[in-house]
Amino acid sequence: MAEKTSDRFAVARAALSWIPHGVTIIGAADGPERSCATGTAMYVSLVPPMVAIAWHPGSRTCTLIQKTGAFSVSVLDASQQDIAERAGRSADGPDKFATLQVPLLEAPPDAGGAPGVAGSIAVLWCKVRDSRESGDHLLFTGEVVAYQVDPAKVDVLLRFRRRYAQIGHDTSPEAPEGYPI
Ligand SMILES: Cc1cc2nc3c(=O)[nH]c(=O)nc-3n(C[C@H](O)[C@H](O)[C@H](O)COP(=O)(O)O)c2cc1C
Repeated sequence: MAEKTSDRFAVARAALSWIPHGVTIIGAADGPERSCATGTAMYVSLVPPMVAIAWHPGSRTCTLIQKTGAFSVSVLDASQQDIAERAGRSADGPDKFATLQVPLLEAPPDAGGAPGVAGSIAVLWCKVRDSRESGDHLLFTGEVVAYQVDPAKVDVLLRFRRRYAQIGHDTSPEAPEGYPI
């Protein structure tokens, strides 16, 4: 347990940062207003396929997700670390993709309209099925309504101990059956 301190993020820094995560970019758009931000995601249902993201209400991306009921999750490759570093801060202008020169991948038809990041390992387009307060964040659960995967890319960008990291090598063959993930 962290020492008692006036820093309200002390436990987040000392404990939550030890949960390893794949780094994603969460995208959202309302017409010409487009935003993207570095974030984390986890799956919370297999059938239907659903993912959850927790977003702080001060973020522009969060506001756009609330407005449109849609978001994208782009799973980053290690070569895209610079995008994660840039998108983890707020940026000026109506289109954060343009301001930060983040390569944009348009949403497929009927997928909610949130842009993804071109060149990612995978992009999931989600429609919000539930949102609720979760401490200082809003927890959005989204159903995956479209996706794109590049099977040639497996060099996932990770976040662990407040650092970016790369995934190591496989330690087993692909599971032939059983749990689908
Ligand atoms: C590795 C990493 C992971 C992050 N994960 C989240 C997250 O899951 N939820 C969140 O609200 N902010 C997260 N952030 C912070 C946002 O990316 C940051 O607040 C960003 O400036 C929001 O941009 P916006 O205001 O343009 O939406 C993360 C930042 C980093 C560097």
